[in-house]
Amino acid sequence: MNSPAGVALTGLGVAVPTKVITNADLERTLDTSNDWIVSRTGIRERHWAAPDESLASLCAVAARQAMDQAGVTATELDAIILGTVTPDHRLPSTSCEVQALLGAPQAIPLDVAAACPGWIYSLAVAEGFIAAGRAKTVLVLGAEKLSTITDMEDRSTAILFGDGAGATIMQRTERTDRRILSIVLGADGTLIDLLLIPGGGSLHPMSPEVIEERSQFMKMKGREVFKAAVVAMANACSEALAEAGLTKDDVDLLVPHQANIRIIEATAKRTGISMDRVMVNVDRFGNTSSASIPIALDQAVAEGRLRPGSVLLTVSFGAGFTWGAAVIRW
Ligand code: ACO
Repeated sequence: MNSPAGVALTGLGVAVPTKVITNADLERTLDTSNDWIVSRTGIRERHWAAPDESLASLCAVAARQAMDQAGVTATELDAIILGTVTPDHRLPSTSCEVQALLGAPQAIPLDVAAACPGWIYSLAVAEGFIAAGRAKTVLVLGAEKLSTITDMEDRSTAILFGDGAGATIMQRTERTDRRILSIVLGADGTLIDLLLIPGGGSLHPMSPEVIEERSQFMKMKGREVFKAAVVAMANACSEALAEAGLTKDDVDLLVPHQANIRIIEATAKRTGISMDRVMVNVDRFGNTSSASIPIALDQAVAEGRLRPGSVLLTVSFGAGFTWGAAVIRW
């Protein structure tokens, strides 16, 4: 829906684990090749967290950068909304741990499990908190340790995913030259079998059988996901632009979820936006799910491709199937 509250993104921060896994590293453990991975996905390397590197600690590093940029302190945060499907613990939510790490005891913590569009879903939740008068300043995070839910023996998924965290500060604003213009969300729960972790949840709790079947890891029907993703993302782009009262020609930069270069290109083509107006960094980070858009935004800002006043269109899709798009005057 058209963004009712005046809200703006005022800070941005990113944290990725230091360990880089190249395609050559994967060639040593899997029946794959750099050529196959680059030509089918565009990915050249990704970051994987060390076992003792928690999701909450990555979030805290990214959050501190975002707070510095926005000029807000931890005690000014009214809420912490974290898009993730890889929390540090099944109980409690990782946003509670982030709250403690930052020293923000007054901030309401909430994890949002919406897979790759987790950051866009979290933006919408934060906007709702602000519109309801529940918050003025919200820390909105997208962060994942996908390496922990990926089957490293399955070459069709092990090559795709990376770890990382992105943080943004969302604040109420009266300014019209810098604000979120629209956010659209959608989902089709009939498609859950396309991308699913079958075991380890409350339906099939962890057991010797789950481990034997390796069903605690992601199972994906890649081709079907690919096709559904392109249609859902292109439709979400059109809807978000219409809600904002803009057209594809008004867009300065499209920042799509970084899943696969071919999905990005197909989405851009269907939306009618040429690749010179599209941000791509899937080559460096792989698919980091809900972290991918803030990580790409950070690079776009650093490269001067996103400047104050730029019209940003951002879009994502993921397991569920879920999707979301937003138009933001940066
Ligand atoms: N290296 C070499 N060969 C491989 C690899 C690999 N890493 N992986 C699969 N292959 C082989 C397959 O076994 C198959 O071989 P066969 O023809 O002998 O049976 C062949 O390559 C073709 O396999 P496809 O799966 O049809 O390959 P495709 O071109 O569809 O590419 C891919 C696979 C990259 C996974 C693609 O389908 C894709 O990107 N899908 C979208 C995935 C995605 O983005 N998922 C994330 C969703 S977001 C979220 O919520 C986390």
